[in-house]
Amino acid sequence: MSLSTAANKDIAHLIHGFTDLSGIRESGPVIINRGDGIRVFDESGKSYIEAASGMWCTALGFNDQELIEAAYEQMQKLPYYHTLAARSVNPAIELAEKLSDLVPIENAHIYLALSGSEANDFLVKFLWYYNNAIGRRLKKKMITRLGGYHGTTVVASSLTGIEKNHRLFDVPLPGFLKTAEPHYYRDGLPGESETAYVDRLVSELKDLIERENPETIMAFMAEPVTGGGGVIVPPEPYYAKVQALLKEYDIAFLADEVITGFGRTGAMFGCETLGIQPAAMTMGKGMSAAYQPISAIALSEEIYQGLCSGSDQAGYYFGHGTTYSGHPVAAAVALKVLEIFSSRKLLGHVQNVSKKFAKRLEGFGQHPLVGDVRHLGLIGAIELVADKDHKVGFTPQGVVAKHLKEECERNGLIIRPVQSGDSVSFCPPLIITEAEIDELFDIFSQALDKTASWAQVERLIAE
Ligand SMILES: Cc1ncc(COP(=O)(O)O)c(C=O)c1O
Repeated sequence: MSLSTAANKDIAHLIHGFTDLSGIRESGPVIINRGDGIRVFDESGKSYIEAASGMWCTALGFNDQELIEAAYEQMQKLPYYHTLAARSVNPAIELAEKLSDLVPIENAHIYLALSGSEANDFLVKFLWYYNNAIGRRLKKKMITRLGGYHGTTVVASSLTGIEKNHRLFDVPLPGFLKTAEPHYYRDGLPGESETAYVDRLVSELKDLIERENPETIMAFMAEPVTGGGGVIVPPEPYYAKVQALLKEYDIAFLADEVITGFGRTGAMFGCETLGIQPAAMTMGKGMSAAYQPISAIALSEEIYQGLCSGSDQAGYYFGHGTTYSGHPVAAAVALKVLEIFSSRKLLGHVQNVSKKFAKRLEGFGQHPLVGDVRHLGLIGAIELVADKDHKVGFTPQGVVAKHLKEECERNGLIIRPVQSGDSVSFCPPLIITEAEIDELFDIFSQALDKTASWAQVERLIAE
């Protein structure tokens, strides 16, 4: 296969994340160079429905004029100033005020960063600082869930519970503990009710806390619904029971809302949909609909006061900051996203179209290749299995999901394979219409049938 000039330049110079670095030298990258609504176009002009919203982030599609104008106007006024050393900029001030009102944390204080990884990394660092400031010098360990994804800085990848993101990187760091993910379909025992399953997970979490010494455990972090880990929506009593346990041991609940924030689950935040009252939360992605790199950390009043006290103790100086924190162009775009949420009644739209999204996804439940269907709002996944009756996945794992993804792409649809056996995920732009949802799943349906026939020929399916 001959590669385009751009593809040849790419493989000569650009390093790609989450990619087979040898394989891409043969295949070249897919180069996307235009977007329109929920669609993107590659360099040959081929159109794709972007059902993964890029990296779970382009909530308003690929050519929203209001966002483009917001960035342009701010660039003309003030393209950059910083928020370090007691300086500030108006877009950052307004954004912090608005986020503080929106998040489910009373009197929240906001720190602005650039990516989800940075936000999670800084949040852990801030809590270490806080615990030192209030004299809890031993209380530093983090608990996250196997299968959870929290990013790829050194701390964020230590929080991440996906082993293939750790290999050869000398992470996780010590003090980053893991507990089970709440994946009832995969891990529930035969005959075990959802409630009994949740009780078992909570009891395992309690054992972990006791074994490690509760005095050493600082916080538990979770995505309300896991994204990269397979779009796992926990059984109903899970968060209530986990929160009650953590409270007993004075361990903070931190919500990673990097995917679930800004409307994805039908409410502004996944915490609201799932009844979580976090001590702190991180957000990113949909916050600017991905038109600018920006993320945020929301801290409770108590944690914020601890940071102030730490700053006093550390010589009247909070020794943390990055050049682009509170970047005015990114903040202006994030403010415009919030404005659009009300001017276009976006939450109501998500609640409406997610019924169609759910119905079409559930419709695949009877397909011979489909073991499990999961969804909440406009995020969902389908788990493919070799043996539906016995929930047996494919060997080798991932090959069938990859085939399905490629079949979809041949037919103009981008979906994303995720962890949890052979699962594929859907996370379309929030602006998607019912007709576009039908179009998306019609293409998917044909690709799924073709993949089933291929898997049969390859003898990957149980007889
Ligand atoms: C839940 C979650 N947290 C954190 C991150 C990291 O965000 P970023 O890629 O912007 O660093 C991601 C990215 O996919 C994510 O899905």
